[in-house]
Amino acid sequence: MTGPVLQVENLGRRFGAFSALEGISATLGRQRITAVIGPNGAGKSTFFNLLSGALKPTSGSLRFGGRDLARVPQARFAHLGIARSYQITTVFPRLTAHENVRTALQARASRYDFWSRRDRLAGLEDRADALLDSVGLAGRRGRPAAALAHGEQRALEIAIALAADPKLLLLDEPTAGMGPEETKDMVALLHRLAEARAILLVEHKMKMILGLSERILVLHHGRLIADGSPAEIQADREVRRVYLGQSGGYGHA
Ligand SMILES: Nc1ncnc2c1ncn2[C@@H]1O[C@H](COP(=O)(O)OP(=O)(O)OP(=O)(O)O)[C@@H](O)[C@H]1O
Ligand SMILES: [Mg+2]
Repeated sequence: MTGPVLQVENLGRRFGAFSALEGISATLGRQRITAVIGPNGAGKSTFFNLLSGALKPTSGSLRFGGRDLARVPQARFAHLGIARSYQITTVFPRLTAHENVRTALQARASRYDFWSRRDRLAGLEDRADALLDSVGLAGRRGRPAAALAHGEQRALEIAIALAADPKLLLLDEPTAGMGPEETKDMVALLHRLAEARAILLVEHKMKMILGLSERILVLHHGRLIADGSPAEIQADREVRRVYLGQSGGYGHA
């Protein structure tokens, strides 16, 4: 895909009379990892839901690879190349890591319809293994998902999202509930994955965001109050003001 991956123009979302997001404009292109941050209620999840098709905008436009997403149903987003990781509920706990990924690949198997059944199955097996390997789970291939460590389950969710071969991967708090070691592993994984696709993530862990992202969008009360590099965001007076006013403070991990 050449040119911008995602163009957001004057995007807004109302819930009845309440405006959860308003006038958001941003273009995602070359930057590989973009983070969306902001205090509670800022509109992060709403923004994320708009980008993944779970919600439709009430104003503005959203283009992906030049294509207007206004009338595209959510089920088509993955086919276009936008995938989001869901919470653990979409992982089948009794299936092995390998079976979980293979199932996700099978859901998209229409792409492989020109293959014979046997070739198709072998292709799926190999691709599932490659995806597990890409998220560092090759050694957990035969383990039931329920028996994986928390961090491994999150990595499995990402492998499942990658089954759609997305150009844009949306991650909602990929390190939620993780300790420092697991967080470190996830950060390394995100760096690797970002070599081949754009990643946009919502996160609360400020230190991690500053180290990981090439670009940060800051939302506050539904508005985009800053958009820049980690250094620019750290120096931004408005951002500092918003975060210093929070109980957690700006530097909280
Ligand atoms: N379906 C909805 N109906 C009504 N109001 C909503 C709905 N979804 C979100 N809101 C409101 O929109 C605002 C933004 O919510 P959103 O969930 O996007 O915030 P957030 O930045 O993700 O917050 P958090 O950090 O707590 O997850 C909040 O005031 C919220 O109450
Ligand atoms: Mg949220």
